[in-house]
Amino acid sequence: MIKVLFVCLGNICRSPLGEGLFRHHVTLAGLEDRFVIDSAGTGNWHVGEQPHVDSQRVARNNGIDLSCQRARQIRPEDLLEFDYILAMDSQNHMDILGLHTASQATAVIKRMMDFAPERGLGDVPDPYFGGPEGFEYTYELLDEASRGLLEHILAERAISKGQQVR
Ligand code: 4NP
Repeated sequence: MIKVLFVCLGNICRSPLGEGLFRHHVTLAGLEDRFVIDSAGTGNWHVGEQPHVDSQRVARNNGIDLSCQRARQIRPEDLLEFDYILAMDSQNHMDILGLHTASQATAVIKRMMDFAPERGLGDVPDPYFGGPEGFEYTYELLDEASRGLLEHILAERAISKGQQVR
């Protein structure tokens, strides 16, 4: 199994969308039985909560259901369990690299926007402090980056798709 973890600050806005979108693209490729996909926050304020209503809304409008997700905080052991850890922004990335297991990490730890290089962005901006329309932009960025991430992983592991990724 290829284990992929998406990480933001609260695990209610960006990383749940990253998880849902990446799972969507993996499913379209017919590869859902090859992946374990999860998300977490560096903070613990929202542990146990469902994704933000606006993350759920924008996902649902695109046929993706996030309602089964519950927020959790990243654990140091995640760096030893997962193969790929995707940080939503540079602060999340630094916080992950600050965990005490970072020096033994088996995971590749990157920023999500590294997989949508044509955007020229290091960070997925946090929509939590803005209006509902910010979530459409978050979705757009994460849709592009999750396609790029899947292509990268499949190329790296010489896996071909069961179906065409749309
Ligand atoms: P997220 O957004 O990291 O994309 O889930 C946030 C959610 C909650 C908070 C900050 C960011 N908060 O401060 O509670």
